[in-house]
Amino acid sequence: MSAAPAHGLMRRPPRRAARRQGQFGHFYGVDPSEEWYTPRVVFEALGLEFDLDPCRPVEGPLPWIPARRSYSKADDGLLKPWAGLVWMNPPYGAATPCWMEKLVAHGTGVALVYARTDTFWFHDAARAASAMCFIKGRVRFVDRLERELASGRPGSGSVLFGFGERAAAAVRACGLGWTP
Ligand SMILES: C[S@@+](CC[C@H](N)C(=O)[O-])C[C@H]1O[C@@H](n2cnc3c(N)ncnc32)[C@H](O)[C@@H]1O
Repeated sequence: MSAAPAHGLMRRPPRRAARRQGQFGHFYGVDPSEEWYTPRVVFEALGLEFDLDPCRPVEGPLPWIPARRSYSKADDGLLKPWAGLVWMNPPYGAATPCWMEKLVAHGTGVALVYARTDTFWFHDAARAASAMCFIKGRVRFVDRLERELASGRPGSGSVLFGFGERAAAAVRACGLGWTP
C-alpha cells in the first residue's frame, strides 16, 4: 500500500486515475503535459491583482499572470501555506480534487477548471463558491510564449469559481459567460 501524501489531502489512487484518463481522456487537457497556461484575456476580464499563484511552471512565473507570489512543482504548492487572494489553474485530471479541496478550505480566490459537473470535487466547489461563471466557448490555453497550443482547444468547457466576496464580484462581472 502506498503512503499517504505528506500534505494530507486525498489523491485518487494511480490505477483508477489511469483508467479514468483512458475513459475520458478528451476531458483532461489540450496537452499531455501540465504545461498549458491561462490566456491573458481571462485576467483582463477579472481585473484582479492576486497575492498567490500556487501552481506555476518551474521555469518561472508567467509575466501576464497578475500574482505577487507563486509556487512551482519544485516547491509543491499544495504543501505550502497559502495567503491572500489566490489565482488557481491547477494541474488537471487526477490532481484537480486536491487543489480544489485546498482552495475551498482557503476560502479566498478564483479557480479556473474544467466544468466537470459530474465530479464530486465540482459539487463540493460549487456548494462552497460565492460565484461561478461558465465560460462561453472554449478557453484557448497557451504556452509560455502566449502561443495558442498546437493541439487545439480543450475537449470541455471551463468554469471560474470565485471564493470570497472580492473574487466573487470579479467573477460575476467578468462577462466571460453565464453566471448562475
Ligand atoms: C494548468 S498549469 C497552470 C499554470 C498557471 N497557474 C496558469 O494559470 O496558467 C498547472 C501548473 O501547475 C504546475 N504544478 C504541477 N504540480 C505542482 C505542484 N505540486 N506545485 C506547484 N505547481 C505545480 C505545473 O508545472 C503547471 O505549470
